[in-house]
Amino acid sequence: MSVTTSSEFSNKSDGADLQLDANGQLRHLLTLRGLSRAQITDLLDQSVEFLSPPGSPVIRSNALQGRTIANLFFEPSTRTRASFQLAATRLGADVLNLDVNTSSRAKGESILDTIYTLQAMQVDIFVVRDASTGVPAYIADNASEFVSILNAGESTVAHPTQGLLDLLTIRQHKGSFENLAVAIVGDIAHSRVARSAAEGLLTLGVGDLRLVSPPELALDSDTLPGARLLHDLDTGIRDADVVMALRIQHERINDIDDIPGMEEYASNFGISHERMKIAAPDAIVMHPGPINRGIEIESSLADSAASVITEQVTNGVAVRMAVLSTVAKTLAAQ
Ligand code: CP
Repeated sequence: MSVTTSSEFSNKSDGADLQLDANGQLRHLLTLRGLSRAQITDLLDQSVEFLSPPGSPVIRSNALQGRTIANLFFEPSTRTRASFQLAATRLGADVLNLDVNTSSRAKGESILDTIYTLQAMQVDIFVVRDASTGVPAYIADNASEFVSILNAGESTVAHPTQGLLDLLTIRQHKGSFENLAVAIVGDIAHSRVARSAAEGLLTLGVGDLRLVSPPELALDSDTLPGARLLHDLDTGIRDADVVMALRIQHERINDIDDIPGMEEYASNFGISHERMKIAAPDAIVMHPGPINRGIEIESSLADSAASVITEQVTNGVAVRMAVLSTVAKTLAAQ
């Protein structure tokens, strides 16, 4: 299998050793790897404080007043970018959404020179999405001591705020994690969502984590010790309490031979009402979005009572408010 990554930033830290300050406080959020159960639980608990009932006014605070957040998305995004913008605005920050297509990156400016330029304008928190492995950690390692870097999606390897919002959604519906069977189904090999969710679930002590995919879209068996790698959907979702469907990440697959035919994929790995009869009767259905309706998930299932997809989106804003507030506190304490 061939995965699209840049070698420029490879073989550097994955960020786990960079994200805490000397006092053990969260300074950057680069990966869920290395965060303790207590640290993840604290972020989930804080997120709950930022949720308000549907139809009621959103929660606001001035936790980020005087702070400036820059969204640097070098890959497309709807949910993550919009929710970081809303989260920062609701906390009173100034928000800069850099249009990367018309920025000086298009004229060859390096990522670090872009960061240094915005640092000089007193940006405090950089929210970064990039297709290359290692970019968020590379920036964190080279940026000013006065800034924080938040990973908003890194190649195939990490999407920590997505992982947190998935954990929060599961916790809301299922309570504790110890007795849960969670099946993540689809293109596991290229999914940063699967990696971060799996890392968080394992840290929180999930009972049974199943990563279900065609063999050509599986992770190496030693990537996530504690997870079971399965290649048959019915085995994978049998009695599962949570079923998370993933899209195939065509943009990260170089070799066309690694991509199954869509009809065959939908038939063998698509989640449908019929297939969900095998899961636990009260199982929830998740998807990080964007959805390919009719391929990895039956369209009517995505909109059914079992689906918590829109709750995941709502939780995304709250989780990002919690993360922004936390790193802002760390910056203020320096
Ligand atoms: N789940 C997720 O990262 O969605 P976006 O690509 O729309 O941000």
